Amino acid sequence: MQFPPELDPDKIPVHVAIIMDGNGRWAQQRSMPRPLGHKVGVESVQAVVRAADDLNIKVLTLYAFSTENWKRPPFEVNALMGLLKSFLLRELETMLENNVSLRCLGQKDRLPKAVRETLDKVIAETADNDGLIFNLALNYGSRVEIIDAVQAVAHKCEVGELAVDGIDEELFAAHLYTGGLPDPDLLIRTGGEARLSNFLLWQASYAEIYFVDTLWPDFREDDLVDAIRVYQGRQRRFGKTGDQVQQS
Ligand code: IPE
Ligand code: IPE
Ligand code: MG
Repeated sequence: MQFPPELDPDKIPVHVAIIMDGNGRWAQQRSMPRPLGHKVGVESVQAVVRAADDLNIKVLTLYAFSTENWKRPPFEVNALMGLLKSFLLRELETMLENNVSLRCLGQKDRLPKAVRETLDKVIAETADNDGLIFNLALNYGSRVEIIDAVQAVAHKCEVGELAVDGIDEELFAAHLYTGGLPDPDLLIRTGGEARLSNFLLWQASYAEIYFVDTLWPDFREDDLVDAIRVYQGRQRRFGKTGDQVQQS
């Protein structure tokens, strides 16, 4: 993709996170079974990963499966897991060509063995790539992530590796699944719902949030460009006044 003239190359969000919602409704609107919406949604994932790279985004985080999504009917969960595995196998070559490194946010142990093994393989093979960091949030829940971090930090205190008053925001953030990565600048949710659904509750404290009605299977490069254009038109104040921000 050519760099779009409507975007300012100096104000590209470093980290873009996306709640990919609306696959089921996309299929239902066409009287198709819901998994077909997920299948077409995979094409949106491929398009968005390539576009993110072309736009010089450094970190892309896609919410693919939540800790709550296990409550769905088994046939839908199985279809999602199958699509995930085939996506990873198909995409590996492209990730290597484009210097993309894959990471997983979430507890991998509950994923089916075949998915976990494929995921581990792709993560290992792309680990040395230093281009786009592509995080897949899988069996991800922000509350579980925070509890995991609390336990890790508490354990360090218990064994004397850390003093309680040594716990600050930076240290805590380093124990989240996103440790070492910058917070998202832009958080997009497709599919028309205006909620976070247990996604990046800590990290999104100052993210610009963009809710869009477009259903995920219809979301392509141009829609990502639109989201970034809106983002670039906003003033991020981080608690300061508008005048203070303009002067700096
Ligand atoms: C998002 O689409 C994909 C996942 C949550 C796995 P949905 O499947 O939630 O689609 P809707 O919201 O039911 O339309
Ligand atoms: C959020 O979508 C999770 C993912 C996109 C993976 P959901 O469709 O599960 O969210 P709710 O249930 O509408 O809040
Ligand atoms: Mg949904």
